[in-house]
Amino acid sequence: MNSYMNMAVGALLGTVFVLMSVSIASESIFHSENPEKEGFAIVAEEASAADGAAAPAAAVPIAQLLAKADAKAGETVFKKCQACHDGTKGGPNKVGPGLFGVVDRPIASHEAFAYSSAMKDFSKGASEKWTFDHLNHFLAAPKKYIAGTAMGFAGLQKDTDRANVILYLHTLADSPVPLPDPNAPDAATQ
Ligand code: HEC
Repeated sequence: MNSYMNMAVGALLGTVFVLMSVSIASESIFHSENPEKEGFAIVAEEASAADGAAAPAAAVPIAQLLAKADAKAGETVFKKCQACHDGTKGGPNKVGPGLFGVVDRPIASHEAFAYSSAMKDFSKGASEKWTFDHLNHFLAAPKKYIAGTAMGFAGLQKDTDRANVILYLHTLADSPVPLPDPNAPDAATQ
């Protein structure tokens, strides 16, 4: 009787032990912290065109940036653009319009390219041109400067990258327009 009791208690303890180990093991395998919120927090910087103009990006006037820019380095930056843009004379439209001669060209005016209505509105019927200043702000944050543009490019945050690529764009022309004078009083708006 005694040994039978011992066996029964032993079996019971054994079972409890096994159950506990399984529960501890599965707890450590399957335990996961519940996230505070369901799903992922997607932090996307989407802002209206209005506050893009006031953003600190592109705060230094382009005339001053261009004075220190390097077109050769800009050619390297332009590789990022070439996924969507051709820079050669008479080159094809790709995802984006051909960019030969884009500096001082009326905005949204390249032949046979279907611009977004946002870009067409911004061009005010192609009376606005791609000035150095427009390029500077647009390339800093395309979707902030022209809300609704179809250009799916995050932008070039660094002043030097932007100035270099704009100086390079400026060389893609039969007769490049003069560069803005960094000492002119209205240099900020050229
Ligand atoms: C993912 C593709 C893509 C990349 C990368 C890209 N662009 Fe664009 N770009 C576009 C599209 C599409 C448009 C037309 C936008 C519209 O109609 O709203 C455009 C328009 C432009 C325009 C206006 C041209 C015009 O004829 O009015 C300029 C200037 C421009 N891009 C410069 C650049 C530069 C410089 C870079 C690289 C720093 C660049 N883009 C990178 C797709 C791209």
